[in-house]
Amino acid sequence: MNRVIVLYATREGHTIRIAEHLAAELRLQGIEADVFDVAGTYLPPDLSVYSGAVVAASIHVAKHEAEMTSFVVHHRDELQRIPTTVFLSVSLTEAQAENAKMPPNQRERARAEACGWIDQFVRHTGWKPSRTQAVAGALQYSKYGWIKRYFVKKVVGQKGGDVDTSRDYDYTDWAALDLLAADMAGAVRVATSVPA
Ligand SMILES: Cc1cc2nc3c(=O)[nH]c(=O)nc-3n(C[C@H](O)[C@H](O)[C@H](O)COP(=O)(O)O)c2cc1C
Repeated sequence: MNRVIVLYATREGHTIRIAEHLAAELRLQGIEADVFDVAGTYLPPDLSVYSGAVVAASIHVAKHEAEMTSFVVHHRDELQRIPTTVFLSVSLTEAQAENAKMPPNQRERARAEACGWIDQFVRHTGWKPSRTQAVAGALQYSKYGWIKRYFVKKVVGQKGGDVDTSRDYDYTDWAALDLLAADMAGAVRVATSVPA
């Protein structure tokens, strides 16, 4: 069946936007797509009905959401049976890695850090997705309380990032996500095609 589940965890809501965007793109490609919040009070989804899965989590204080790590550990075998799977790690560090205005050595360090968190997630959960991708996240100052705003501004400022707290910043490369959705739709169609 041409059906994909997009599982997400989020703290400030940007990863929901990424999950919904991917699902909408997959639907445009003729793939049925369900979006699922792993932190909700839920009956676990029946993963056996999907031929593709996206797992999207964001980084806070150098860690992915604990509820996503625990979901993947608990559902690892079901996830492993799905033919096409993608893990997306959303962070500001990846935004730095993609920022052409940053010095190359700083970008390389950021890329290594973002990849390190992905490796850590894969090692910790034991799940081997078909593809992994770091995704640049957002700075949503308007959503932070004053303590969080102060902390984030300080850390971001130390790394040469955007510190005007009167506005929000979206660093996600939405066009790259469209390409990812197209690749995934192709892979799902191949996986579910009946040989002639
Ligand atoms: C309190 C806080 C801590 C964060 N810590 C990190 C971090 O350690 N490394 C990083 O790259 N990004 C960090 N970020 C940036 C988030 O990963 C980014 O804002 C992401 O878009 C959040 O996604 P969400 O809205 O789905 O939770 C942090 C953001 C906040 C608000």
